[in-house]
Amino acid sequence: MTLSPSHPLMDGRTAESPLISAYRGVKPSRRPVWFMRQAGRSLPEYRKAREGTGMLESCLLPELASEITLQPVRRHDVDAGIFFSDIVIPLKLAGVGVDIVSGVGPVLDSPVRTAADVAALPTLEDSALDPIREAVALTVAELGSTPLIGFAGAPFTLAAYMVEGRPSRDHMGPRSMMHADPETWQALAGWAADVSGQFLRAQIEAGASAGQLFDSWAGSLGRADYERFVAPASARALDGVRGLGAPLVHFGTGTSEILQPMRDVGVDVVGVDYRLPLDEANRRLGGGVPLQGNIDPALLTAPWEVLEAHVRAVVEAGSAAPGHVVNLGHGVPPTTDPEVLTRVVSLIHSIEP
Ligand code: CP3
Repeated sequence: MTLSPSHPLMDGRTAESPLISAYRGVKPSRRPVWFMRQAGRSLPEYRKAREGTGMLESCLLPELASEITLQPVRRHDVDAGIFFSDIVIPLKLAGVGVDIVSGVGPVLDSPVRTAADVAALPTLEDSALDPIREAVALTVAELGSTPLIGFAGAPFTLAAYMVEGRPSRDHMGPRSMMHADPETWQALAGWAADVSGQFLRAQIEAGASAGQLFDSWAGSLGRADYERFVAPASARALDGVRGLGAPLVHFGTGTSEILQPMRDVGVDVVGVDYRLPLDEANRRLGGGVPLQGNIDPALLTAPWEVLEAHVRAVVEAGSAAPGHVVNLGHGVPPTTDPEVLTRVVSLIHSIEP
């Protein structure tokens, strides 16, 4: 398993970029920063580009998906593009009935709750991923030396939507299934691992220089359940990806107690949410793991002096780790003033790496 010689990571375009350097624990020329959900409703150009086109439909139109991915890179001077897509796209491409309802999130036509429901799940044909490959190729051709990050949802977060059929607060459905019917849980998590892995691999092979596994809701699990019922599936999702040589990041929210097992699924970098200072996260990980994070999104609306002090504190705490990529502790809220994000980027770039 190797990337083609014309891949941005192989042909000299991105291998020494600030982002990839920091992910590899090498001192970067400037401190890298990007934002989860940097593409999206906070940008007027996004709202304009999306007008009249559904969310999932937009993800499957290569030129539109590429344009939306590039918008925040042009505007903010961030150190990476994050591929515009969604964690439920591999479900959709496999033929599972799913849509994203604005203001709600992913909603399935029929929840997946029984052994028979899981057995009836379709396989994801490799050719169905062609629109994804095409969008990635168009994007990296424009990005030049700025790396593109590909991503996928981790099996637990995907299964949380599949079992509940819609977003939920406590993820009772999947957490109950693990214990009530472990075989069905394993089959479902295995299915989700495989489609996630295919989706992420397609993006990296088509030109993404790094990959992020989003287990947004893993923090609802205790450590024992995480290790027993979830980590093996997350590791499996990365089995076809790890050997490609693109750095891999693992992120979730509320994960302060499971950072070590999240790292142990076989990633290079751990993303930390805003709850745990990065120097403490670094201690919990034994000091050898590059970190990503963790500006509190709530502070984006604070007076500049308050936000600046917070950003400087995040940078200071992050300096403890062998590599640090600045990000938010979760996604950009849709109401964020994009000029604040641009100002945060230039502040971070002005601090010695
Ligand atoms: O810049 C980026 O990060 C763009 C790519 C991206 C999107 N979704 C675009 C999107 C990524 C990496 C995701 C991942 C994703 N999708 C996650 C994991 C990250 C996280 O936030 O925890 C999750 C849980 C989802 C599922 C999902 N998709 C939700 C909960 C929502 C919000 C629904 C709403 O309207 O409140 C979506 C929709 C979505 N995905 C939007 C975007 C830009 C908003 C769509 C719109 O413009 O209406």
